[in-house]
Amino acid sequence: MQSELKFFNELVTKLLEKERSEPVVEPLPTSSVIADLDLGFSDEGMLEEDWQKVVENAVMHTPRTASKLFFNQLFGGRQPKAVIGDLLAVILNNSMYTYKVAGPQAGIETAIIKETCKLVGYTDGDGTMPPGGSMSNYMGLVMARDAKDNTVRYAGITKRMTLYTSNTSHYSTPKNAAFAGVGRDNIRYINNDDEGRMNPAHLEECIQKDIAQGHTPFYVNATAGTTVLGAFDDINALADVCQKYRLWLHVDGAYCGAVIFSEKHKHLTAGMERSDSFSYNAHKMLGTPLSSSVLVTKHKDQLVKSFSNEADYLYQTGDEDFDLGITSIQCGRRNDALKLWTLWKSVGNKGLEKIVDHQFYLADLAREYCENHPDYTLYSFPDSVSVCFNYKGIDPKDLCTKLYEDGNLMVGYGKFREQEFVRLVTINATNGKEEIEQFFKALELGA
Ligand SMILES: Cc1ncc(COP(=O)(O)O)c(C=O)c1O
Repeated sequence: MQSELKFFNELVTKLLEKERSEPVVEPLPTSSVIADLDLGFSDEGMLEEDWQKVVENAVMHTPRTASKLFFNQLFGGRQPKAVIGDLLAVILNNSMYTYKVAGPQAGIETAIIKETCKLVGYTDGDGTMPPGGSMSNYMGLVMARDAKDNTVRYAGITKRMTLYTSNTSHYSTPKNAAFAGVGRDNIRYINNDDEGRMNPAHLEECIQKDIAQGHTPFYVNATAGTTVLGAFDDINALADVCQKYRLWLHVDGAYCGAVIFSEKHKHLTAGMERSDSFSYNAHKMLGTPLSSSVLVTKHKDQLVKSFSNEADYLYQTGDEDFDLGITSIQCGRRNDALKLWTLWKSVGNKGLEKIVDHQFYLADLAREYCENHPDYTLYSFPDSVSVCFNYKGIDPKDLCTKLYEDGNLMVGYGKFREQEFVRLVTINATNGKEEIEQFFKALELGA
């Protein structure tokens, strides 16, 4: 292992240098990437030197998501303390299902869940760390389904169950509805207001219509930070409707749910404590490596009912509170907790708050830049870390593709209603004012 660790250190040092000198790798065409980088396999193994070369080549041609010119997705940058946590998780290689196998690592995950419940306002809640935000939404949906009809877990679905989410929510909801046997056709897409928030009056109207037709409404998927606009649904208003019709309210905070760590911005999720379940991705706003998702619910019993199964060959020590397999979707499960814990321990609650607040500060700077430069048309709203704009009326798809292909900048585009735009995501909290200015400079030069 020592020689591999030495190789690892040298390679990472080279990569970090490259990230600084060449933040965007020139993309290899998909038609030739396998041949160009020798990604295929052969019967015989490789000489050490050749192996090191192919590994290095693959690493050096990989998109640099931690660099200062990566603005393409809802994650970016690198929090070093979290990286160390994840590297240690790989070396330790525990599976998070039992205390016997995970030991203190199960305690770490439990501590994260407890603290999250406290921040959300679930007094006797519980949770788990699912493999991503999509799966967190899935678990929310399954709990809602089972809470509405306790027979489904054994008999399967016998009623027409309907669910509700906004037009601009994440695409995991239709997939999840299919996985859960509820069916994509039973989703009602609720209208947005002009700033991309779900319209509670339209939600109520749709629920009433379904009830009148004899259907069984059971679930509302709200969003704290929609994928494109970064909009926050009004949780209190949605909770009023859910309470009235006895629907489960899940808040998908994969993108921006980490505002719960910020005194200044947590008002965006006011009413959180009235929801039934909530999730956030630490690998988005908090900057841990992918993936680190937290799902919490105020209905501890429902989490166990929906996700536990007897397994004598697994649960052998009776450490129920730390046998986390009874509340998770998988059996063998990666340790996604340690990276968040190493970061959180290092910087404290105040440090996480700073990380979150800094992203809003960077977004304000970017919006200001667009407002002060006549070549830009701004489409985004305050209180969002997605800054949406167009430059000189250039088609955003053409612009983003050109910037990517020329190796200048990685940024994506999005759409709200019929308007397409470039979407700058200020999620990399290791960036400062200089990097935001550099973003615009790179865009203007490359356009
Ligand atoms: C609002 C929202 N929900 C869920 C997800 C999915 O999260 P993951 O990629 O971890 O599955 C995303 C991802 O961007 C998102 O923006």
